[in-house]
Amino acid sequence: MEVFGNKAHQIILGDAVEALTNIPDNSVDLIFADPPYNIGKNFNGHKEKWDTEDKYLEWCCLWLDLCLRKLKPTGSFYVMTATQFMPFFDIYLRKKLDILSRIIWSYDSSGVQAKKYYGSMYEPILFCVKDRNNYTFNTHDILVEAKTGAKRKLIDYRKTVPTVYSSEKVPGNVWEFPRVRYRMDEYENHPTQKPIALLERIIKASSNLGDLVMDPFSGTFTTCYVAKELGRNSLGIELQDEYVKIGLRRMQLASEFKGEKLKKEIRTFETEKISNSYNLTLFEEPNGTYLHGND
Ligand SMILES: C[S@@+](CC[C@H](N)C(=O)[O-])C[C@H]1O[C@@H](n2cnc3c(N)ncnc32)[C@H](O)[C@@H]1O
Repeated sequence: MEVFGNKAHQIILGDAVEALTNIPDNSVDLIFADPPYNIGKNFNGHKEKWDTEDKYLEWCCLWLDLCLRKLKPTGSFYVMTATQFMPFFDIYLRKKLDILSRIIWSYDSSGVQAKKYYGSMYEPILFCVKDRNNYTFNTHDILVEAKTGAKRKLIDYRKTVPTVYSSEKVPGNVWEFPRVRYRMDEYENHPTQKPIALLERIIKASSNLGDLVMDPFSGTFTTCYVAKELGRNSLGIELQDEYVKIGLRRMQLASEFKGEKLKKEIRTFETEKISNSYNLTLFEEPNGTYLHGND
């Protein structure tokens, strides 16, 4: 296990269960956990598939319990997993916490175009708190447009003094955010990167300035990056060097990792752009540098 960063933003390179064990109990304000889903995704050559579903769930119970121990009594916990495992998480967690919302993150297209069944177009998120009478929820920071009444500029005559309908409301539990695509600025080389917009809503709603936000399966460190942008402190855990490198760069915590300069990977359309602007052909070297074909 290795620790990087500073007092406000820490990255732990290592196994989540081991790292979580060493974090003080009751110290975290908000946890967002987006673990491997046990669906055979390839995380930088590391295929995430347990021998049986029971073994996957056993492992999940271990880190779920640890997350609950680390959460402050006023803390909030958001957790994701594959649709087929979420019912187990729900039954397990509702004995220990209050589940306040069962959120559907709905998106515009699935990775695989299903032909003989209905393609998967959403991922579930549980929003849980330790104490339903004492938790952070910053309603005014996450309001969205209220389309009915307000949009049509109708007057609400149910009130003592008739008023226009409110033009804003707290979002419901179906959240529409596009998935991160190759051509988007925020794209990093990771198979299950979560969108900045999704984490912005969660962090704005369920934490305050200076609070500690933790993500035990950080991947591209979207959670920690957004936490930093929003003036929160962050703690991210990730098993793979490659992804820790993304986190260190994205959060501007280091410019090098074990002697290697940290640079964002150039995407194919960006090399085309560079090449077109110079009217030159660029050849990629194995070390990631580019040679001008006409040089
Ligand atoms: C679903 S992804 C998280 C994606 C992340 N939310 C993002 O926005 O990029 C799960 C991550 O957990 C990491 N991981 C898998 N097993 C782990 C373990 N035992 N401890 C820590 N991280 C682990 C994987 O390498 C992967 O990057």
